[in-house]
Amino acid sequence: MGLNGHIFVTRRIPEAGLEILRESGAAVTVSQDDEEKGVEMSDLLAGIGGCDVLVPLLTEPLGSEQLEAGPGLLGIAQMAVGYNNIDVDAATELGIPVANTPGVLTETTADFTWAMLMAVARRIPEAHNYMVAGRYKLWGPNLFLGGDIGRGASGRRKVIGIIGYGRIGVAVARRATGFDMEILAHDPFNREGIEADGMADWAELPELLERSDFVTLHPPLTPETRHMIDEAALRRMKSTAYLINAARGPVVDETALVRALSKGWIAGAALDVFEDEPAMAPGLAEQPTAVLIPHIASASHDTRSKMATMAATNAIAHLRRERAPNVVNPEVYDTEAYRRRAGK
Ligand code: GLV
Repeated sequence: MGLNGHIFVTRRIPEAGLEILRESGAAVTVSQDDEEKGVEMSDLLAGIGGCDVLVPLLTEPLGSEQLEAGPGLLGIAQMAVGYNNIDVDAATELGIPVANTPGVLTETTADFTWAMLMAVARRIPEAHNYMVAGRYKLWGPNLFLGGDIGRGASGRRKVIGIIGYGRIGVAVARRATGFDMEILAHDPFNREGIEADGMADWAELPELLERSDFVTLHPPLTPETRHMIDEAALRRMKSTAYLINAARGPVVDETALVRALSKGWIAGAALDVFEDEPAMAPGLAEQPTAVLIPHIASASHDTRSKMATMAATNAIAHLRRERAPNVVNPEVYDTEAYRRRAGK
C-alpha cells in the first residue's frame, strides 16, 4: 500500500492487527510491550504528539489534555467496542475522528455473560477452589447448593432482567430463550426494539429489579448509567437474585454491592469489570458469593484477533484521510477542524 505516516499503538495488540498496520507501509510503534504494564502518561503524550494515527486500548485515558497533544492526529482507532475512556466531544471539537470495534465481540461477550451467570448461580468457582484446596472429603446432599437457571425442580420459569438492550443485550436474550426464561428488558434508547423482537417484555427499572432472578447489565457507561445499580437498586432485588456485569464497572456502585453481598440482600454477583479497574472496592474480594474476573468477556482468540484487524482497518482509513468504517463521531468529517487536519 506504501502509506506514509506514523501509527502509534499504545500497547501490544494481537498480531493480526499489527500485521495489517505494518503491511500498510506506515511506521508502526508499539509503545508498551509488557502486558502487565500500562503506558506512562509522558510516553502517551509524546506518542500522540509525534504520530498521525493513534491505536489505543481502553486502559488509556484520552481527555482534552491528551487529545490536544496531537496537533497532527488524523484519527483514533481504539481496539474495543466501548470508548468511555475517550472524550469524544472534545475529539469532535478538535476535528479528530474516533473509531471502535463494534459487532465482532457481541456473541463472545454474550457467551461469557452466560458463563458468568451459570458460574455464580451454580457456585462453580467456589466449588473449584474447594476441590483444589483438598477439602472434598465426602459427597453430601447440601454441598454447594445454588440457584436454578432453567425451570429446575420447582418448574418455575426464571426471570432474567436485561438492562441495556443493544447488540449484546439482545444476544443474551437469545441465550435466555434456550433456557426457557421469562425475559424482561429495560433500555430507554431501544424500547421499540424490546417491544418488537418477541423475546423480551419492556419493564421499568424498579419492576425489572424486583422481579428478576438474574439482572444482567449491558448499557454503555454514560453519565445516566453511572451508578445505575446503587444501594436503592440492590435493595429492590430479590435476596435470591444474582447480578451480572460485563459492561463497565461504574454502572454499579461497588461499595454498595459489597454491602449487599455481605448482608445477603442478593444471592451473588459476577463481575467482569470494576469501578476503579484493576482495583476492587474494599471487602469485595472476601465475598464468597462474588465471582470476580479480570475484564475478559471478549477474550476469545478469534474475537480479539478480529477486533485487532478492525482497529487496524480503521487506523489505515484515518491515515488515508478516508472515512473510517467504524467511526463513532461521523459529524467530525464536516468540520473545518477536521478538514484542516486532513489538509482537505
Ligand atoms: C471491552 O470491554 C470493550 O469495550 O471492547
